Amino acid sequence: MTRPTQRPERPEFSSGPCAKRPGWTPDGLKSALIGRSHRAGPAKARIQEVSDRSRQILGLPDDWKLGIVPASDTGAVELVLWSMLGARGVDLLAWESFGSGWVSDAVQELKLEDHRVLEADYGDLPDLASVDFARDVVFTWNGTTSGVRVPNGDWIAGDREGLTICDATSAVFAMELPWDKLDVVTWSWQKVLGGEAAHGMLALSPRAVERLESHSPSWPMPKIFRLTKKGKLNASIFEGSTINTPSMLCVEDALDALRWAESVGGLPGLVARSEANLAAVAQWVEASDWVDFLARDVATRSCTSICLEIADPSVADRAAEDVAAMVKATTKLLDDEGVAHDIGSYRDAPAGIRIWGGATVETSDIEALLPWLDWAWQEIKRA
Ligand SMILES: Cc1ncc(COP(=O)(O)O)c(C=O)c1O
Repeated sequence: MTRPTQRPERPEFSSGPCAKRPGWTPDGLKSALIGRSHRAGPAKARIQEVSDRSRQILGLPDDWKLGIVPASDTGAVELVLWSMLGARGVDLLAWESFGSGWVSDAVQELKLEDHRVLEADYGDLPDLASVDFARDVVFTWNGTTSGVRVPNGDWIAGDREGLTICDATSAVFAMELPWDKLDVVTWSWQKVLGGEAAHGMLALSPRAVERLESHSPSWPMPKIFRLTKKGKLNASIFEGSTINTPSMLCVEDALDALRWAESVGGLPGLVARSEANLAAVAQWVEASDWVDFLARDVATRSCTSICLEIADPSVADRAAEDVAAMVKATTKLLDDEGVAHDIGSYRDAPAGIRIWGGATVETSDIEALLPWLDWAWQEIKRA
């Protein structure tokens, strides 16, 4: 196979931090309110603008709260698990590394006795029909390390008694979320928006707020997790204040990303960009004789973290470690060529390729990458 000539214009296909928006330059940060107190009026207004624009793009219901919390998506999820769980039993869903991490927090750290773990292997979803919505439910909308997403919210009870707590960090801004089926949604700017990490977004339904105000966890709560004051929601966190000091540079960058998101048509435009990336990869996989989607059910294939496994019959009899080494060599070759950075599968996932297809990635760059993948795999096999 001949070496392709056309390279992706931008080789950034990492699943986090993800590619900046097309055309991003540091100039977009020039008007950041650096060296100013984040509690000064203009700074608070900037912080609030991030929430306002996010709310508008995502179509968040008016009665939901949206705030910025410390420690990226992880901070947002953990703050919620520590603040809200324990009031009733909980169903914990996991089908890849991040979901398993939340299970471990609830079971090993919080030691919640009344828990059920619903698990599936990489490539599958747990049995969604067996989730009990009289209980709280913790799940990721999109499993970033397996490329498996829930297909929709139809499996979630509208009249649930428990709360649905959803880590949507690699879904939000690229997939439609059914807000009426969710109570807590978290994300970070570093994924589909191509923003910076370290700050988390926390969206709360009225029922989630009610939980915060009615439930007092039996364990101590670090300051960084505290959302209530004297039993009432600390509303200032959802009105431009933050628990501790945010980076105003990151806030400015998030605003730059959100303005770009608006310029491409808001949520429908972002979803279309990401779905086009998945479609380009799917077309190539269809014709390929050496890769397949890790997600077994087409309806669960992620349009953001697109995960592929090796399905080459010519290496079928080789040991798994050998195939993993070949994949590593393939991704290294493409990295060295400056064609694609960070496209190896996540460290806990089966050996394979993971291409970020979120909205900041141009479909033309994905299309340019695909022949290079064929070429690199052939080169490695030959060697
Ligand atoms: C599903 C999911 N949850 C949580 C995280 C952790 O995000 P962060 O490092 O922004 O806290 C990630 C990061 O890739 C993720 O994909």
